[in-house]
Amino acid sequence: MPERSHGAPHGGRTVRFAPRIDALLAQHTGSDLFRLEPDTIGVAGPDLMDALLHSRPANAEERPTFKPVRARRVSRTDASTFMQAVSTDVRAALKRPLEPTVDLTGSWPQVPHAYLRDLVFGRERFRFRVLVDRRLELTPKLTWSAVTSGAALLGRPGSQVPLSKLASLVLDSTTYEDRRYAMYLYRRVAAPVCFTVAALVTNAVWLGAPFDEDTPNRHIIHEALRLLPVSWNILRVASPEFTAVDGRIGEHDDVLVLPLLSHRDPKLWDDPDAFLPERWNDLDPESQPGYLPFGHADERCWGRHMVLPLAERLLDLVRRDGLTVDPGRRAGAVELDGLMEVSDVRVTHARAGAALAG
Ligand code: HEM
Repeated sequence: MPERSHGAPHGGRTVRFAPRIDALLAQHTGSDLFRLEPDTIGVAGPDLMDALLHSRPANAEERPTFKPVRARRVSRTDASTFMQAVSTDVRAALKRPLEPTVDLTGSWPQVPHAYLRDLVFGRERFRFRVLVDRRLELTPKLTWSAVTSGAALLGRPGSQVPLSKLASLVLDSTTYEDRRYAMYLYRRVAAPVCFTVAALVTNAVWLGAPFDEDTPNRHIIHEALRLLPVSWNILRVASPEFTAVDGRIGEHDDVLVLPLLSHRDPKLWDDPDAFLPERWNDLDPESQPGYLPFGHADERCWGRHMVLPLAERLLDLVRRDGLTVDPGRRAGAVELDGLMEVSDVRVTHARAGAALAG
């Protein structure tokens, strides 16, 4: 795989993208619009991204979290009920003070994933905890079978067991069908809390640790999301609104909006491939042209208010405990299997790392 040597000044670390992503970056960074496939147009120009995403709302199938559950439509009310439940659980978890001792060394993103699972869902019964397991991500069939067996076996635990808001929603369902549907939605909203935040913080650590003392966590997060946007593409299926916005888009063309590319466009960013959290001293992430890590302003990610404080908490621990990447690790692989994350990052104490390197 080719390597991008720029983008990670700390410890001389590089990011090795999967070949298809690397080809996208090499061929199309700075382009406004280009043909990707016979039926797909790639878009990376900031004004065009904005106009296209503004031209119509995402349809049910384009919403990953609340797309139909086995042909059952997820109503707006159900969607917001589940989001409110998980937000309540996250807020409760964040009220707890930082753990005086916690070992976050080891292989990331697995380690922060497990930390977040324990922090937010730790007291949950096994049936629920299994739904946020990383292994389930491997196959959707496996998810469905975990949900099905879980739904069949569930009974309400004794009142001494504290239940999360999310789990209560599932257990309050009356029929087996409803319980199964609710468990599936539990999985849809609970799993990203662990997966996406772990990916984001792993990327930040890879790109920049150890961080300068006076750099705010927020700036580290914005910059990590710029260079390695966890959600790196936004797909919209063909529709007449897009042709109306730009005649180069045919009526049967799907549109793939690519923040990955606009986030490195040299027309938009100084030194675009460098990890420079300080650039956010003067930029506003809400209105910076072409910066869309959480999607378009019209329908921005519903989870971002949870993501940011959870990521900050992890960064607080990383900084407090002096964690960094094992200095033996120089190239981090970004595979092409969904979320954009550096895989198998060895995280260690800076002192231990320095001794090893010496
Ligand atoms: C690093 C973390 C995350 C990133 C970068 C991210 C990014 C995004 C993006 C780009 C969109 C817009 C998609 C589109 O317009 O097609 C979106 C929408 C959304 N996100 Fe997130 N997200 C993150 C975490 C989460 C979490 C933890 C949750 C839920 C617990 C969540 C729930 C949603 C929902 C409900 C939507 C609306 C569309 C849908 O139904 O899927 N996100 N997110």
